[in-house]
Amino acid sequence: MTPLPVHLASFRLRTLSSLAALTLGWPASLLAVDAPVSWFKDITPLFKRSCNGCHNPNKLKGEIDTSSYVGFLKPGKNGPSFVPNDPAKSLVLAEITGKEPSMPKEGDALTVAETTLIEQWIREGAKDDTPVDAYSTRISAPPTYTSQPVVAALAISPDGRWLASSGYHEVLVFETEGLKPYGRWVGESTRIESLAFSMDSRSLAVAAGVPARLGEVQIWNVETGHQSVAWKISADSVYGVSWSPSGDRLAVAGADKAVRVLAYPSGKELMRFDNHSDWSLQTAWLPSGTRLISGSRDRAIKLIDATSGQFIDDINKLLEPITCLVRHPKEETVLYGGGEGGLRIYKAKENQDRTSGNNDVNLVRDFERQPGPVQAVAFSPDGSRIAAAVPNGEVRLYAAANGQRTATLGGHDGAVFSLCFSPDGTALYTGSFDGLIRRFDPATGRLTAILQPVPISTANTAGP
Ligand code: HEC
Repeated sequence: MTPLPVHLASFRLRTLSSLAALTLGWPASLLAVDAPVSWFKDITPLFKRSCNGCHNPNKLKGEIDTSSYVGFLKPGKNGPSFVPNDPAKSLVLAEITGKEPSMPKEGDALTVAETTLIEQWIREGAKDDTPVDAYSTRISAPPTYTSQPVVAALAISPDGRWLASSGYHEVLVFETEGLKPYGRWVGESTRIESLAFSMDSRSLAVAAGVPARLGEVQIWNVETGHQSVAWKISADSVYGVSWSPSGDRLAVAGADKAVRVLAYPSGKELMRFDNHSDWSLQTAWLPSGTRLISGSRDRAIKLIDATSGQFIDDINKLLEPITCLVRHPKEETVLYGGGEGGLRIYKAKENQDRTSGNNDVNLVRDFERQPGPVQAVAFSPDGSRIAAAVPNGEVRLYAAANGQRTATLGGHDGAVFSLCFSPDGTALYTGSFDGLIRRFDPATGRLTAILQPVPISTANTAGP
């Protein structure tokens, strides 16, 4: 049998489905045989399933983006992907039809019904019917939780008054005195990745995002609880936000690999560093404010000129993905935790004296190997202790001077993802997979408080 011309196939398909609708007595809305093909309802789900993995703002294979109408409208490497009203001139149809369609490059070919739908949409003028708020994740009130969200980020203000924790779509703020709730700050991003208070404790910077869609830096006024800015800087999540020592700039890392420096309060991008070959996850400023450090899944800790964006050197030996990193509170050293259980302190300077015999000249201390990826690290405020969160739900404390383990904090139901010391060094807070924040005395390892940051709704859940 010779295949039907595409437009005929489409006619038959649509007629058949309307007949089926009649016989089954489906709702009248389904009988609208002549309803045009909808970009948003009909095409985007197909593209999402089969195309967007390779054609999105962060992965522009063939220089095309199928993840939004605006993206798809931009011509690719070989010109426009579609010409409204003219299927024959539409490159996308040539790519997805034929005996061995070249797209999708991997995975199952689209069915005839699916390619017909796309053809029909183009024939009908390739109109955009994306609702205005289709990609907005804005919500107006704090979310209701039915289970505890992972505590992915924690920060304490330099004056010691405020403890901030990540929630879903929101930052939860507590008074450290009595651990009383102070604010629930709801923003557009669903995932809160990193939190940093300004030196004067008056502003809280938040690196947040919606994976593969939005990367945002939010700044909140601590006193009023209002969002002062929300800079949308990327089409993917951002991480590792840090304030410059003078408080006039912010550095932020990202899933798009870039490290950015933004002016505060204008939000102007002052510097962008594109030297990492995988997601960058952390940033830290050296005390001078002229140099910046970034850590990445590509295993490198890079030293960067914060003004020019010039790459200075890798400070470490490239052993494992850098999963977490903090700067020493006073000295020009950094502590990192690695994807393979490494826990090391490095001098934050050029690695220029390296030789073939010693290519790790900046290494200051190598702590005992951890039983899996290290998820969070912290320096005590005087730099004498370090804390590391390891996958078995433990937090281990070490003396920075000799590398001896001094305490092991347990009792977490799952891994710990965030850590912070109080500025006076008398408390260590942990944020865990089990959704709880715990406070320990770092000197003795004793648990002194447990905080459940979000209220859990029991509505609609059947009791035992
Ligand atoms: C596994 C990755 C992958 C998937 C999935 C994929 N593509 Fe592609 N696509 C590519 C690559 C790579 C190219 C660049 C040309 C090449 O290497 O063949 C490309 C090129 C194209 C082009 C040509 C752009 C130009 O101007 O040259 C179009 C159109 C296209 N793809 C459409 C689609 C559609 C529609 C889908 C889903 C049905 C899809 N692709 C799924 C990887 C992919």
